Amino acid sequence: MKIAILPGDGIGTEIVAEAVKVLKVLDLKFETETALVGGAAYEAFGHPLPDATLKLAKDADAVLFGAVGDWKYDTLDRPLRPEQAILGLRKNLGLFANFRPAICYAQLVDASSLKRELVSGLDILIIRELTGDIYFGQPRGRRIATDGHFPGSEEAFDTMRYSRPEIERIAHVAFQAARKRSKRVTSVDKANVLETFQLWKDVVTEIGLQYPDVALDHMYVDNAAMQLVRAPKKFDVVVTGNMFGDILSDAAAMLTGSIGMLPSASLNDKNQGLYEPSHGSAPDIAGKGVANPLATILSAAMMLRFSLNQPEAAARIEKAVDAVLTQGLRTPDIYSEGTQKVGTVEMGDAVVKALN
Ligand code: NAD
Ligand code: IPM
Ligand code: MN
Repeated sequence: MKIAILPGDGIGTEIVAEAVKVLKVLDLKFETETALVGGAAYEAFGHPLPDATLKLAKDADAVLFGAVGDWKYDTLDRPLRPEQAILGLRKNLGLFANFRPAICYAQLVDASSLKRELVSGLDILIIRELTGDIYFGQPRGRRIATDGHFPGSEEAFDTMRYSRPEIERIAHVAFQAARKRSKRVTSVDKANVLETFQLWKDVVTEIGLQYPDVALDHMYVDNAAMQLVRAPKKFDVVVTGNMFGDILSDAAAMLTGSIGMLPSASLNDKNQGLYEPSHGSAPDIAGKGVANPLATILSAAMMLRFSLNQPEAAARIEKAVDAVLTQGLRTPDIYSEGTQKVGTVEMGDAVVKALN
């Protein structure tokens, strides 16, 4: 087994170091190889996703990814921006199915910005389509408008776009995931306004007929955003498009206490996967040693379960995370009165200790 380690930028390097430390003490038989990606790769090689990094990721059984991006690259030409690295990996590896489980640990009910009774016991799974939608739709660009409200002015445009097979395959993923949980799927769309999401809704409904044991309902994305903070426990599996999933999963993160608690798995049809926290490179706290490494450590657990066929090792990591939270250890993002504030490395060390 080979794991490609791509720490990236900002807190990416800090949190991935902790996840690697945790993986190493498990004493599993795997090789790792580390490579630069994002802004770090741009600095070294002039490109955020060098061919060698892409090849390493493609040839590996799984990829452990930190985060990419920094404000200082925001003025580069788009193909050279760090974010293109993660988008390029998703596209090139065909990682169309993104799993973002939002679980509120009992120990963290007071870290959430919502009332404890709303989040206590929360366990929802957001399934985000990851290689289509307005993120990848062509054409896109900037030009001088020849029509519209202001002909002759500069305009920019992107294309929201989904094909039937793209919707079918993510719908199957969602229904199959629901079968292993409470057999409920909420499909989130904007079919009241957008053609793309009318097709989405029609196709999800059709595929749903093949899963009569799973209850399917549909919700518009604006209402879903509201319901997520009003009564999040009413959801179980949520399936949605790339952009809505991006936004809703960050909102769901706060139900768990912090974005630093939300892991993710991005899978292709061969169960090859890329595992990364749902958050970014957090330039505002990078280098300070305070980032929460738990989302990345939990992503490594998802990697062991989904791509490396090591469910026991995955469960051991999850138990160790639970144990450190029970011990009262908290990075600043999940700190609440009466608990003990620790940094990134101390948190990682505590997980390692709990594993032993
Ligand atoms: P962000 O997720 O990096 O940070 C948002 C806020 O959450 C910040 O206040 C940050 O300090 C906090 N935060 C994030 N992760 C944390 C952690 N583990 N522990 C404690 N606090 C944490 O989002 P942003 O600020 O909008 O974006 C920063 C950069 O990251 C941008 O360049 C963006 O494009 C990039 N980004 C990359 C990825 C990725 O690599 N997959 C994901 C999201 C954003
Ligand atoms: C995420 C991030 C990425 C996305 C960016 C960095 C391209 O926000 O993984 O959620 O929008 O998918
Ligand atoms: Mn995001």
